[in-house]
Amino acid sequence: MSSINLQPNLDTYSNSESFTRKKLKSPHTKTSLIEVTNKLPIKPPCRIFFKNEMEHSSGSFKLRGIGNLVKVSIENARSKGIPLERIHVFASSGGNAGLAAAYSAKFYKVPCTVVIPTIAKPIIQSKLKDYGAKVILFGNSINEADQYLRNIISSADQDIYPIYCHPFDNPEIWEGHSSLVDEITQQIGENDINKIKGFVCSFGGGGLYNGLYQGMIKNNIKGDILLVETAQAPTLTETIKANNIITLNKVNSLATSLACSYTTKQSLQYYKIKTNGIKSSLDLIDDMDALRACIAYKKCCNKTVEPACGTALSVCYNRIDLLYKNLSHLKEDDILVIVVCGGSCTTDEDLKQFEQMVRKSEIKL
Ligand SMILES: Cc1ncc(COP(=O)(O)O)c(C=O)c1O
Repeated sequence: MSSINLQPNLDTYSNSESFTRKKLKSPHTKTSLIEVTNKLPIKPPCRIFFKNEMEHSSGSFKLRGIGNLVKVSIENARSKGIPLERIHVFASSGGNAGLAAAYSAKFYKVPCTVVIPTIAKPIIQSKLKDYGAKVILFGNSINEADQYLRNIISSADQDIYPIYCHPFDNPEIWEGHSSLVDEITQQIGENDINKIKGFVCSFGGGGLYNGLYQGMIKNNIKGDILLVETAQAPTLTETIKANNIITLNKVNSLATSLACSYTTKQSLQYYKIKTNGIKSSLDLIDDMDALRACIAYKKCCNKTVEPACGTALSVCYNRIDLLYKNLSHLKEDDILVIVVCGGSCTTDEDLKQFEQMVRKSEIKL
């Protein structure tokens, strides 16, 4: 395990002598945007671009939002005169949000504690430790780990200034995710900006969706957002049916990062409103489709992503029918951006297992 030096990282401040007034740098970096229209196995209805969010240091788009939450919280603390030595980041995600919190804490040189359920993947545990986070294994679910974390925070020394990182439900997280759209508008160039007609992203708790929506408003982009979730984790589907924020009893998807038992109020509101020139639609795929997409993406682009990301990618590979069904109005010249959200929960070994699982499921049929 690499240890981290907890002295303030003055490089991350725009001006080390007046850091109480200046904004901090963000921990995320710019990711690439590439056109893949002619690389796909089946002809899509329009031009397709991949926004490669797996390129972030923590492995997923989560670094934009969680990084922003940590950044703004440190800026607020500093403006109140709280020294960096008192600040401590806390998270309870055994997935990409936890990694983003730990990476952000390392970036700003503040300590981090992550409580994760005992079932969390060993690869995540070791990455968290590599980022210098203190890792506590507790409980059988995220909820149990989160409860334990909250107890740690409430009984912590009064001197500690805690930054609690929810994985998706915080406006600072959505603001951070919205930078994805800012970047795309810069990358696509002025001539093509009006051709951006929509986005596709997977839906877990709704943080990514809220950020995309806000980014579209901010950049005056009108068009569609196609949300995809797995039938095994139908959080938004059930929320829309109930027209209320509900908690699902059991969410058990192979797309583990999408398995959230509830979504944000903001996501339900955004989904329902038809103003701003943004129209959201939602479709469900089977877990096996998400695995198929991870396999196809590996063959196509030689990159390993987890099923949460395969869920969005499936519309380019094995479930291209969903594009024709939900976005049939798009023209050949229109641009659709797929958020390749990334994720560190899958290894190449896992991909081999996915191939076997897919084969077995096809034999059963
Ligand atoms: C790789 C990946 N994709 C998608 C999501 C879903 O994001 P959200 O919970 O913001 O909807 C997550 C959430 O952890 C994730 O890790």
